This record gives sequence, structure tokens and C-alpha cells, in this order.
Amino acid sequence: HGQPPPNIDEDDCLLEYCHLFSVQSAQDKVAFIIGGGSEIGFLIAQVFMRHSCHMVIASRSLPRVSTASKKLVAAKGQWCLPLSLDVQDPPTIIVAVDEVLREFGKMDILVNGAAGNFPCPASTLSFNAFKTVLDIDAAGTFNVSHVLYEKFFQDHGGVIVNITVTLGSWGQVLLIHAGAAKAAMDAMMCHLAVEWGHGNIRVNILAPGLISGTKGFQQLGGPQASRILHFLRSPLQRAGNKIIAHSALFLASPAAFVTGAVLVANGGMWLTSPNNTEMLVGFPSFPTKL
Ligand code: COA
Repeated sequence: HGQPPPNIDEDDCLLEYCHLFSVQSAQDKVAFIIGGGSEIGFLIAQVFMRHSCHMVIASRSLPRVSTASKKLVAAKGQWCLPLSLDVQDPPTIIVAVDEVLREFGKMDILVNGAAGNFPCPASTLSFNAFKTVLDIDAAGTFNVSHVLYEKFFQDHGGVIVNITVTLGSWGQVLLIHAGAAKAAMDAMMCHLAVEWGHGNIRVNILAPGLISGTKGFQQLGGPQASRILHFLRSPLQRAGNKIIAHSALFLASPAAFVTGAVLVANGGMWLTSPNNTEMLVGFPSFPTKL
């Protein structure tokens, strides 16, 4: 009862799919998913396509989004346009948005899912590392939203769903850069919801927690033991499943008379997070970049 279906480990399409919403619920809509080539963005793309949405997925890596697009087309049999852009580089966003508008003639839904993150103590985080994460997450979200607004949403309305985690509203070791970026995203979401609401533009946040089968889960969940303890302390006592991608479909749908809201889809984990300073042990020499 109430259990999600079995999860998948890699960026593969679900083996079985049961519709939560009507198959037509996103029919004739065009969705633009930044970061749609992998992880939660990829799942959101798949869920939207299952609901008859036209799809554009974009990231810095064209090979990654091209491979993802082939998988999505094979699973669903409809077109998914892969594009490369860098959210830190507005001219590349403008070129990509122009191409979407040429191809589809419109844009209904923007999902800002590009993010950069890695655990690192504040004391050893380089100045550029801090800035890079803010540039990708916070400035990147602003840049893409700004271009979309100017090119289409200001005259036609639209829906923006930003993907974050709740790090902006609590404290946690090793993630000052991500926390600062997510706090900025929370604030921008509120301001844009107010400033653009009169143009029938809704702006919301979907905040998943640790979702199994993602890089973030491997990277940020800590070692196995602390991870298990972490989940036992959380209300639902388990990690999230990629199926939470449906929450984005809800926020994007006309059923959501919702703007300026954060939908926290982390099993209540943020209510009980421990002060896990033991994770700091050994971190100053954290060796690898992703
Ligand atoms: N620990 C500490 N510093 C790190 C780091 C790590 N794991 N990874 C990157 N940095 C630092 C770099 O050293 C650099 O700072 P410096 O110039 O002072 O040395 C700065 O961050 C920028 O790194 P760079 O690799 O040049 O930037 P990038 O834009 O190519 O990649 C990320 C940065 C954050 C996007 C990279 O970690 C990444 O590709 N992550 C994978 C995607 C991801 O994080 N997804 C989210 C999972 S929750």
C-alpha cells in the first residue's frame, strides 16, 4: 500500500509505467527541460512525454542529451529535441530558445534542473568553487527564466518549475555553496511569482531530497552507515524514488492553481536532519571532482 514502483539505478527508462494522470494531460504542450539528459531531469522528461508533451532537453553536453533523447524516443515514440546550452552563458541560451521556437512555435513549460554540487567543507572550498555553484544553480536559473520570459512567456504566459533541495532553509555540513545557491533560488522563485503572475506565469519549486539511483545520492548521501541512520531518522524512513518526477507534472499542469510555492518531496527528511558533523572527518582532502 502506498509504495512506489521499483526504482531504476541508471538513466534508463522505466520498465513498467502506470499513469498517474490522464495520458492527455500535457497534450500539445511544449516543455523545455534544462538538465533533462540525466538524473531527475531525465525522469521528468520521460513522465511529461508519457503525458503527450512535446519535449526539448538541454544541457552543456550535446552527446549526453542526444543519447537521452534517443532513449526517450524509443520508449515513447515521439520526438524529443536535444540541445546544448550553458546556463552560465546567456548567448547559448538565446540560440537554444530560438531553435525551440523555430521547431515548435511555442513553449509552455520550463523546468530549470541544471545544478552543480559536491560535498566540501567551507574551510577548503575555493573561492571559484563557491562562485561556480552559485553561477550554475542561481544565476543559471535566472538566466534561462529571463530569456524565456523575453522571448515567449511575457506575451503568452507559461509555467516555470525550478528543481532544488531544501538546503536553503536549514544548515548542513559540507554544503555551504549549495545551500547559498538554493536559498537564492527560493527567493528568486518568490520574486518572479509576484512580478510575473499578472502575465499568467506560474513559478514554483520542486525540492526532492536524496533520490536513490542518482549521482547526488551516491555523492551526498554519505557513507552507507550514516545514510541508513539518516533515513531511519526521517519520517518515511526511506530514500526517495525517481517516480517523484510526477510532482513536476502536477506543478506544470493546469490542475495546479499554485505559484510561489515549494513542493518538498523528500519524505519529510528536512524536518529531522541530524547535525552530522562526523561527515567532516577526513573531508579536507576530498580528492575527486566529478
Ligand atoms: N571538491 C572541491 N572543489 C571542487 C569540486 C569538488 N568535488 N569539484 C569542482 N570543484 C571546484 C574546482 O576546483 C574549481 O575551483 P578552482 O578553480 O578554485 O580549482 C571550481 O569548483 C569549478 O570547477 P570546474 O570543474 O572548473 O567547473 P565545472 O563547471 O566544469 O564543474 C561542477 C563544476 C560543480 C558542475 C562539477 O562538480 C560537476 O560537473 N558536477 C556534476 C554534476 C552535479 O554536480 N550534479 C548535481 C549532483 S547533486
